[in-house]
Amino acid sequence: MNDVIRKGSADLVIVANRLPVDRVHDTDGTQGWRRSPGGLVSALEPVMRANDGAWIGWPGGTDVDLKPFVEDGLQLVPVSLSADEIEEFYEGFANGTLWPLYHDLVAKPEFHREWWESYVTVNRRFAERAASVAARNATVWVQDYQLQLVPQMLRELRPDLRIGFYLHIPFPPAELFQQLPWRRQILEGLLGADLIGFQLPGAAQNFIRLVRQRVGHKTHRDMVYLEDGRSVRAAAFPISIDTAGFEELARSEPVAQRAAEIREALGNPSKVFLGIDRLDYTKGIYPRLRAFSELIADGHLDVEDAVFVQVATPSRERVEQYRILRDDIDRLVGRINGDLGRIGPPVISYLHSSYPREEMAALYRAADIMVVTPYRDGMNLVAKEYVACRFDNLGSLVLSEFAGAAEELRQAWLVNPYDINGMKSALLEACAAEPKEISRRMKAMRKTVMDKDVAAWAASFLDELAAIRPSHGKTVRPARRT
Ligand code: F6P
Repeated sequence: MNDVIRKGSADLVIVANRLPVDRVHDTDGTQGWRRSPGGLVSALEPVMRANDGAWIGWPGGTDVDLKPFVEDGLQLVPVSLSADEIEEFYEGFANGTLWPLYHDLVAKPEFHREWWESYVTVNRRFAERAASVAARNATVWVQDYQLQLVPQMLRELRPDLRIGFYLHIPFPPAELFQQLPWRRQILEGLLGADLIGFQLPGAAQNFIRLVRQRVGHKTHRDMVYLEDGRSVRAAAFPISIDTAGFEELARSEPVAQRAAEIREALGNPSKVFLGIDRLDYTKGIYPRLRAFSELIADGHLDVEDAVFVQVATPSRERVEQYRILRDDIDRLVGRINGDLGRIGPPVISYLHSSYPREEMAALYRAADIMVVTPYRDGMNLVAKEYVACRFDNLGSLVLSEFAGAAEELRQAWLVNPYDINGMKSALLEACAAEPKEISRRMKAMRKTVMDKDVAAWAASFLDELAAIRPSHGKTVRPARRT
């Protein structure tokens, strides 16, 4: 520990696989850090500042021994991973085993004992770092599937702490989870927390059922009662976005101008369809592009009048399944554009790249129909971002019923991504809907995302965590008003 972050000084500790900053290289060769654009950090930043908070995470890459540092007032504690650990823990167990298993086996999970051992080693490193940074009776909030053993490991090291855990991705039904050779260890790892948050009530129920069946603890509704007298609550806390921040951006003049430029560059078609996703096999990019291309081929949509913009952000590129997906999408887009194109803007504008928030907001404003069709998704924040940016109450959302967001955004055109004909009908309906109908649906969805933003999400989780262990641990101070 350096003297910027004193040992045992933080009253609130966030433990996540990644730090909330990205490395940037200046033209003069020096390197620094830039805050990553994610909603989680903007939600937690005020409460971290009010509580001498620290954030523990992997800075990306294979640095050894990067010292804790302060960036833009945030105390950051890097945890380094070796090249082998990146392969076995991050690409292997986290993204080759847990990710497909937790997303309904959309791809086949691989089970390798060395990957599991690396997962245990890395989780222990995160737990030890949290144990050394946290003040007495502090609150520690562990994030996501990469770190499910941390709560138990941390509790053994520091029984004084109040520990929360939040799973950002789905938690599978018992029938699927059971395949995992280390199912009991994962359940026990999570039970080290006082409060376990999931996106949806169904996920919390899956967890409670598994704990009863596989670990044999007593449960009642959303509570688990352990032999040592401790109780653990498992409940849903659907995550959200920085709604006001997105809306403000979307209303800005540069974004309005950029949206007009985008439509112009696409040939000013009457309908712009849009997909924005990490290039991930769970996102259902393939069937949505097929559905759209069939509508053009069938003559239901006119190639001069409708374009599809698909942004696919590069992700986990060294993992085999992601490479296969990239090739599949490249081939599909090439075939659609080759078969259905003519001189002019392509039928599918495919962008394998990531963009800053401003460009995303401009794309959202430029799109008439937002198409979000994952086979399975914990929440899907893109759907909520689109809604936040449509302050004009225009724009149609076509949304998979298998995205967590579908439980809140009921007024979207809901689709089953496995049903191509059903998706074609929904795309056509969304396209042909009267402005009055579009606006009725959008207004209702906007109310939902305005009432429940990411700051409300963080506050509700932390309040509940404090309520569960009232006599134990310091109270997390609310964010200071600025
Ligand atoms: O949705 C789960 C998640 O881990 C997010 O937290 C993260 O932003 C995204 O997937 C990308 O993950 P990675 O860290 O593997 O690039």
